[in-house]
Amino acid sequence: MKGFISGLPKVELHLHLEGTLEPELMLALAERNNVALPFSSVESLKAAYQFDDLQAFLKLYYQGAAVLRTEQDFYDLTYAYLERCKREHILHTEVFFDPQTHSQNGVAFETVIEGIIRALADGEACLGVSSGLIMCFLRDLPEEDAIETLKQAISYRDDIIAVGLDSSELGNPPQKFERVFAMARNTGFRTVAHAGEEGPAEYIWEAIEALNVERIDHGVRCSDDPKLVAYLAEHQLPLTVCPLSNVKLKVFEDIGSHNIIQLFRQGVLVTINSDDPAYFGGYLNDNFLAVAKAFDLTKQEVAQMSENAIRASFLSAERKQQLQ
Ligand code: HPA
Ligand code: ZN
Repeated sequence: MKGFISGLPKVELHLHLEGTLEPELMLALAERNNVALPFSSVESLKAAYQFDDLQAFLKLYYQGAAVLRTEQDFYDLTYAYLERCKREHILHTEVFFDPQTHSQNGVAFETVIEGIIRALADGEACLGVSSGLIMCFLRDLPEEDAIETLKQAISYRDDIIAVGLDSSELGNPPQKFERVFAMARNTGFRTVAHAGEEGPAEYIWEAIEALNVERIDHGVRCSDDPKLVAYLAEHQLPLTVCPLSNVKLKVFEDIGSHNIIQLFRQGVLVTINSDDPAYFGGYLNDNFLAVAKAFDLTKQEVAQMSENAIRASFLSAERKQQLQ
C-alpha cells in the first residue's frame, strides 16, 4: 500500500504554506532575520508540538510565521514545499497563504505574494508541479481588515484563484464575512472556507448559504447533522479533510475514530490533505497511508480519494481529464 500511495498521482487542496515551515528552516530564518524565538534547537521545537486544540496550535503557528520577513523567505518556504510535492508525486496543489499574519509583523502584502508567486512559477517550470493560490482571511480579525486585504489583492487578481477563511473558528462564524466574500465573488475570485473543524455543523451551513463557497475546508462536524450530510452528498460539495491534523488537534481521539470513511461511504466528496504538515508530523502520503491502514482500504478506494481531489480542484475540465 505504501508503494501504491507513493506512486499514485495526487492533488492537494488544503495546505497552508506557513504550515510547511519545518523547524530547520524556522531556526535558520530566525537567525537570518534576527527574530527572537523561545526555542534554540530543532528538538525543543518539535517537543513543543503537542496541542490540545486549534487555539494551542495557532499560537505556535503564528509565532513560527514571524520569522518570515523577506520575499526570499517566502520563496524558499514555498519552493521547499513544491520540492516535497515532486517527491510525493503531487501533480497539482492549491495552497493557502495568510497575508494578515505577515502584515501584523510589518511585512508588506507585495513582499509576501511576490515571493510566493515566483516560487509557484518556478515550481511549475522546473518541477512540473502546477498550483493555485488561495488567499485566506483571518476570521478572528474584523471584516473591515479582510476588506482591506481584498483591496490589496485586486492588483494580483490573475495570481490568486480563490479566497478562503481560516484561524480561530469558535465564535467567528462565516456570516461575519458575508460582505467581503460577496465582494470577492464579484471581483471574480472563487471561494472556500474552513468550517466545521471545531465549530458546529451550523457554521458549514453558513459557509454554504452566506458565503456561497465551492468547497468546505475540514467540514468533519457535518456528521452532527444528517440533513447536511445528505445535502453535501447530493450537491457533491467537496470537503477537504485533513486526517492527521484532526488527530493532532484532538478533533478525533485517534485515526480509527475519524469519520472520513463513514462520509466517503455516505457519498460525500471527501478528499485527503495535510493542512500544516510541518506541525502535524506528516505530508500528504502519510495522511493517505494513515487512513488506508486504519480502515483497511482497497487500492481502488485509495485511488478514488485521489480522483475526488482532481474533481474538487479548480483546474479546467481539460486539465482534470489529463490527470484522470
Ligand atoms: N484551521 C484553522 N486555521 C488554520 C489552520 C487550521 O487547521 N491551519 C492554519 N490556520
Ligand atoms: Zn487548514
